[in-house]
Amino acid sequence: MNIILLGPPGAGKGTQAKFLVDEHGLTQLSTGDMLRDAKESGTEMGKRVAEVMARGELVTDEIVIGLIREKLEAGGRGFIFDGFPRTLPQADALAELLQEEGQKVDHVIELRVDDEALVQRIAGRSTCANCGEVYNDTTKPIPADGKCAKCGGTEFKRRADDNEESLRKRLMEYYKQTSPLIGYYYVKGQHEVVDGLADIESVKAAVNAKLT
Ligand code: AP5
Repeated sequence: MNIILLGPPGAGKGTQAKFLVDEHGLTQLSTGDMLRDAKESGTEMGKRVAEVMARGELVTDEIVIGLIREKLEAGGRGFIFDGFPRTLPQADALAELLQEEGQKVDHVIELRVDDEALVQRIAGRSTCANCGEVYNDTTKPIPADGKCAKCGGTEFKRRADDNEESLRKRLMEYYKQTSPLIGYYYVKGQHEVVDGLADIESVKAAVNAKLT
């Protein structure tokens, strides 16, 4: 089963992808995480990627499609695409790559939210430095003992692009380049919507209901 989670920054794609990994044994492919890893590598490409991400702009299609191609060629029993595709050329490339592997996109689930909620979510976000579990100062606080509920890790980090200026740019990129994918998948008969403003457990139940 291959699932695309679609939605603006802060919609909850990463949060829901982790549930799908735990419950369905799928592999999460987050291009944002892959690019952050590339950034840490200190290579010339990593440095260029870091600058683009800090500005809240999109990295080139060529780079992200290359990253996804590598992962798909390595094989797996099903993927959750979190933050990919983000442009129409990326969506076409994904269809072709999956076809080459004898697979297809099974579900495209849009997590629909309103922009007001995103600022609060992004501003309050932190992740476990060890396992990547996502927390929020208001809606999902780090446990009182300071340990990650999933792995017991005690270090948490905040993202460099989680500031208001970068968020505005990321939102603009979403509306200009990614939101046309809603129409693209609607025409293909694959677009489904879940209310991403509901609490985390309700969103999880609604996503699971789409998969049955
Ligand atoms: P990426 O890492 O993909 O970031 P994003 O799309 O901006 O999405 P986020 O990770 O910010 O949000 P999310 O939807 O995963 O929300 P989360 O679950 O964390 O991309 C970063 C950058 O990389 C891009 O700007 C671009 O430069 C580059 N990039 C990546 N992919 C690319 C591509 N394909 N092409 C080109 N460039 C690419 O939740 C957010 C917060 O809300 C958390 O604190 C969480 O606890 C909380 N929360 C989640 N759900 C709920 C809920 N239901 N109720 C209350 N709180 C909730």
